[in-house]
Amino acid sequence: MHIRIFYLLCLSAGCTGCAGLQSTLAPAGEDAARVAVLFWFMVAGGLAIWLGVVALALFYSRPHEAAPNRSRDRWLIVGAGVVFPIVVLTLLLGYSLAMIPPMVARAPEGSLVIEVTGEMWCVRYERPGQDHVVLANEIRLPVGQPVQFRLSSDNVIHSFWIPALGGKMDMIPGRATHFTLRPTRTGVFAGACAEYCGTSHALMRFYAEVMEVHAFEAWLQQQAVPAAAPTQPIATRGQQVFFRTGCHACHAVRGTAARARIGPDLTHVGSRRSLAAGTLPNAPDALFRWLSNPERLKPGVHMPAFGMLPEDDLHALAAYLESLR
Ligand code: CUA
Repeated sequence: MHIRIFYLLCLSAGCTGCAGLQSTLAPAGEDAARVAVLFWFMVAGGLAIWLGVVALALFYSRPHEAAPNRSRDRWLIVGAGVVFPIVVLTLLLGYSLAMIPPMVARAPEGSLVIEVTGEMWCVRYERPGQDHVVLANEIRLPVGQPVQFRLSSDNVIHSFWIPALGGKMDMIPGRATHFTLRPTRTGVFAGACAEYCGTSHALMRFYAEVMEVHAFEAWLQQQAVPAAAPTQPIATRGQQVFFRTGCHACHAVRGTAARARIGPDLTHVGSRRSLAAGTLPNAPDALFRWLSNPERLKPGVHMPAFGMLPEDDLHALAAYLESLR
């Protein structure tokens, strides 16, 4: 009885992976839909083969026949042991190979290009004839349109993966890899690094939001605009703290004197869904904890701790960053 409950619990835990933000079985992109169909095709094939093997085992576990039927047994061995696996594996190989060309095809000339660098997600939007837009740790895509991704890394090998939208692709230092995604429905989906890359590999995450085309265009235009000057006194004080403590030595806030490229671009950091590459919600208290001691929240992070600053300064700094919308 207990063992049955254990199996039921395992099954229900496994089923939680069938839906949600980060599931390959709830596809929201053309490539992800292909992968999901292949998965169910494999499951159905595996199930059919398993049933056949069980039927044969049951057949041969009967009491012995008076005279063994050698020619039938030989045909069974050749048929089920040689011909059947060759036919099944050839069909599966053909089916999965046929899937590769549409998945590696480039997006048409003139499509939006998104360059993602694995410095724990630097993201750059490029469109022919327009200024590039640099942001970090968040990707937004227009629904129904092909988007060309250009991936690279400035440190070790990472792997870029948004399970609900498509397959994964390695990000290799010194080399650009390409792939195209075409989302088929709007929503927020979770993405992650799928290649072990160091201490905080499990915390190298991000959100990908698929938007209606007009909302996406408005968002991208807004991201291209330089940061507005702070209006609230606490945010103005936070901006002074930002420059006094040297945050601008690593970060850029377009429209100010901060132009460094070592850490993430913070021009519109207040408008992002998450902080620290998908690991914290973007809220003032989370930002305060992050500024005080990033290492505690994300081991191995390059960002230094600012816990030595007076609490008032940290709150002001958090208010300034939250005001960058
Ligand atoms: Cu980057 Cu794992």
